[in-house]
Formats: sequence, structure tokens, C-alpha cells
Amino acid sequence: MFSRIARPSQTLCLFRHHFSTSSKVGKDVKVAVLGAAGGIGQPLSLLLKEIPLISHLNLYDIAHTPGVAADLSHIETRAKVAGFLGPEELDKCLEGANIVLIPAGVPRKPGMTRDDLFNTNAGIVRDLTERVAHVCPTAMLGIITNPVNSTVPIASEVLKKHGVYDPKRVFGVTTLDVVRSNTFIAEAKALDVSKTNVPVIGGHSGVTIIPLISQCTPPVSFPENEREKLSVRIQNAGTEVVEAKAGAGSATLSMAYAAAQFCKSLIDALNGKNEVVQCAFVRSDVTDATYFSTPLLLGKNGVEKNLGMGKLLDYEVNLLKAALPELIANIKKGEEFVAKS
Ligand SMILES: NC(=O)c1ccc[n+]([C@@H]2O[C@H](COP(=O)([O-])OP(=O)(O)OC[C@H]3O[C@@H](n4cnc5c(N)ncnc54)[C@H](O)[C@@H]3O)[C@@H](O)[C@H]2O)c1
Repeated sequence: MFSRIARPSQTLCLFRHHFSTSSKVGKDVKVAVLGAAGGIGQPLSLLLKEIPLISHLNLYDIAHTPGVAADLSHIETRAKVAGFLGPEELDKCLEGANIVLIPAGVPRKPGMTRDDLFNTNAGIVRDLTERVAHVCPTAMLGIITNPVNSTVPIASEVLKKHGVYDPKRVFGVTTLDVVRSNTFIAEAKALDVSKTNVPVIGGHSGVTIIPLISQCTPPVSFPENEREKLSVRIQNAGTEVVEAKAGAGSATLSMAYAAAQFCKSLIDALNGKNEVVQCAFVRSDVTDATYFSTPLLLGKNGVEKNLGMGKLLDYEVNLLKAALPELIANIKKGEEFVAKS
């Protein structure tokens, strides 16, 4: 059932250290952010405004985009910023986009699971993806909106309906799980966090998040109870933020950072940079779940190669077994939503 493709160690080392190269000369990229005025959308757009290879940054939301765009447009960096407000301006926002990032939708409040967001966010992602299918079907699509385990299948089904689905180009952005794992493990072991890389596989909610601590670079080891505590903390890290924000939303600043890192990787890959590797939630045949996050080698056309999950410890195999039923159910729920729409 589980593939055991070993990941070359030099590829592992490249997980996070290729980002700075996107400041070199290369292909101009137009990025559209849908949900750009929100808690994630605004800091994400700010971070994207700093990426030299982005020539155009198109910001779409159903509220406040004129103000956000005017504000960002005064920053002395290259990207030309434009704001688009409301459904009648969405197509214009998407015209010619190479990359579309979607953080549109409601976030969690304390006591909610990501799946509790389904009823509101499923329709938002479906409708936005409809326009992507019509206007920029070959764009790379990065979905941030939760529940990612269901919204990625929703977007994929919509693209399929329109005959433009390319599984290599549709990503659930799970980078924040990697960012959190790197941070927590580097803290626990007093490592240089900029050189710490932990692959995270599976999905993006609770038990479906599977940090592969055994594949950390540099190698680390923990007593069993400590390793378990760390894994559980990584799985529940989003809830840690939701509770600390006490009703004011979920992770926004760390998520914006993570999505900007993911976008930089896509831009590097579009520019033909070699050995760009990121974990993301994509169409997959690595397990019984038809969408699954693993380290991916990215290229000009999106996923160039799925690097699989490598060799798991028994402990990680058990995490995987616990994750699959929920993940498969979340995927089915997303697919059925589009089938019934
Ligand atoms: N993938 C991850 O790791 C991750 C991490 C944190 C949060 N999230 C998710 O990201 C989403 C956004 O979170 P947030 O904190 O930015 O929420 P937010 O409420 O602050 O912002 C959401 C924005 O989406 C906009 N919006 C709503 N409906 C829209 C539509 N139909 N078209 C365009 N824009 C629309 C809103 O106007 C708002 O500006 C949530 O679903 C949250 O759960 C994902």
C-alpha cells in the first residue's frame, strides 16, 4: 500500500535553501491572490510585493481590495499592484496569471475543526476555481483555504468538469506544517533553524498531518515520549494559534510567510531552476488516499516528480494508518460536493 521511494539526501538539503535565488533575472511572473484583503491575504501580498521576479500582483477580494492595493502600490519594489473588487472584476484579475493563490474564505474560531469550515468555504473555492478554469486554466493553483483536504479535491473536480485539469498544477499549500516542524524541532535540539528541514506528509488537519521526524536534516533523535509530544504539537499547532487568538481567527502571519515561500519555489521552478523541492498536497498514488502531501520536485510544468515518502519508522507508519481514513473521507466529501453542485 505504501510506496517507499528513498529521497536522495542532496535533494533533502535543498528543501528551503533555494529561495534567495528568485532574486536573479528570469521570467516575469504574474501572481493573482484571491482573498487578498484578509488576515492571510494582506501580509501574503506584502511578502509577494518584495519578490523581484513578480512583475504583476493582482489582488482580488469581495471587500477592501482598492485600499489594500493602493497601500501596497506605494512600496518601491517592482511588482505592479492592481486591486479587483467583487465577482464582476474577477476575470480581469485572473487574465494572464501564471500563479493563482487562494486564501479566500472563513478561518476557524476556538473549538472548530477545519472540517467545520466546509459549508462556507467549499462554495467559495468552487466558484473561484470556475473562473480560473475559464480565464487562466494553465496557471499554477495554490489553495490555502481550509479544509485543504477537501478544497483541493473540489478545485480539481471543477477543473476536470471544464476539461482543463492538470494534476501537476494544483497544490494544497501545506508549507506551514513544514515551517512549524522546522521551528519546533530546531528549538528542541538547539539547531540552526535555517538549516533544519523536516518533511511533512499526509493532509492538512489534525491526525492527517504526519511529520517525518526520522527524515529530519540534520538527523535528530528523541526519546519515544518526546517524539510523540512533538508530533502531536505539530499536528495541533494551528489550534494553538486559534486558541491564542481567542476568536480573532487562525494563523495569518506565519501562513503568509509559508505561502510566500511556496510561491517563491513555484517561481524558481517556472524559471527552470533545478532541484526545487517542496511538500504540498497534490493528486497522488503514493497511498490509498488519492490526494496526499509528499516532497515534490517542481519544474516548469508544476510537479515534475513525486519523491514519495521515503522509509518510515514503525511509529510513522502508525501515524499514516491513523491518518488515511480521515483523509480519504475528507477527499470524498470534496468530490461529492462538486458532483452534487
Ligand atoms: N493552508 C493552511 O495552512 C492555512 C493556515 C491558516 C489558515 N488557512 C485558511 O485560510 C483561509 C483564510 O484565512 P484568513 O485568516 O485570511 O481569513 P479572513 O477572514 O481574515 O480572510 C478571508 C478573506 O477572504 C475574503 N473572501 C470571502 N469570500 C470570498 C470570495 N467569494 N471571493 C474572494 N474573497 C473572499 C474575505 O473578504 C476576507 O478578506 C481560511 O479558510 C483558513 O482556515 C489555511
